[in-house]
Amino acid sequence: MTTALITGATAGIGAAFARRLAADGHNLVLVARDTERLREQATELHDRHGIEAEVLRADLSEDEGIASVEDRLTDRRHPVDLLVNNAGFGNKGHYLDVPMADELKMLKVHCEAVLRLTSAAATGMRERGRGGVVNVASVAAFVPRGTYGASKAWVVQFTQGAAKDMAGTGVRLMALCPGFVRTEFHQRAGMGTGNIPGWMWLDADKLVATALADLARGKSVSVPDPRYKALMGVVKVTPRGLLGGMTSKTGRKYGPQ
Ligand SMILES: NC(=O)c1ccc[n+]([C@@H]2O[C@H](COP(=O)([O-])OP(=O)(O)OC[C@H]3O[C@@H](n4cnc5c(N)ncnc54)[C@H](OP(=O)(O)O)[C@@H]3O)[C@@H](O)[C@H]2O)c1
Repeated sequence: MTTALITGATAGIGAAFARRLAADGHNLVLVARDTERLREQATELHDRHGIEAEVLRADLSEDEGIASVEDRLTDRRHPVDLLVNNAGFGNKGHYLDVPMADELKMLKVHCEAVLRLTSAAATGMRERGRGGVVNVASVAAFVPRGTYGASKAWVVQFTQGAAKDMAGTGVRLMALCPGFVRTEFHQRAGMGTGNIPGWMWLDADKLVATALADLARGKSVSVPDPRYKALMGVVKVTPRGLLGGMTSKTGRKYGPQ
């Protein structure tokens, strides 16, 4: 039986990965900050699918939190075969409205934690000659969209580069770039979603099914769903200035400051 470790497993896309991987018979290590929610989820997945689900409470915006997950990923007695770096969040407000501490926290969770956890996992995977890493980025990586988009662009570039360097080792790395997905993300960030057209919303379970199929195919970047594939084609040929004007507004309606 193989083991998958998922960060940000308690909600949204991470919870969808947990459901799907448990249904496929993988043991799980579930990582997030809310211990009670983690325990409930572990019990439910164990009872429903008969898999082992460990709970690891870690705040990935803190050094100790990242270190505790690194320790689990480098435990040779209990190897992790698939790592899903999914934990993430949005900040409320445009550039200069967001407190610097929150910007730095985002870089810690979206970039430093992803770098350190990918590296901790990939070292053992390379020795064993097999394994996979999915780093959850966003289509925001391809458009000008504040620190969020910049951090996700880093995830895509880092993952593609690492995937190239690891070619032939048996270890697959893939950046997953979803469009808008119905999760707790926007509510947690205090973002209004009223100006996001209905057709732009993706379903987390379908997204995960496509992501795992793309990983199995050996893709290093996955943009699930034909709607977003087409949209990203348009983005490639649209002038950056025009793009910045559109993308800084879409889905970034904030309530009273
Ligand atoms: N929803 C979208 O439209 C969308 C689109 C593109 C990309 N994404 C990306 O998808 C990923 C998952 O987002 P989601 O939409 O599923 O959001 P979500 O529903 O808000 O879930 C976020 C998860 O991350 C965990 N988390 C947040 N901060 C953490 C921290 N400091 N340390 C550890 N865990 C933390 C949360 O659990 P705790 O609060 O218990 O820690 C939760 O399990 C993110 O990387 C996001 O950027 C989302």
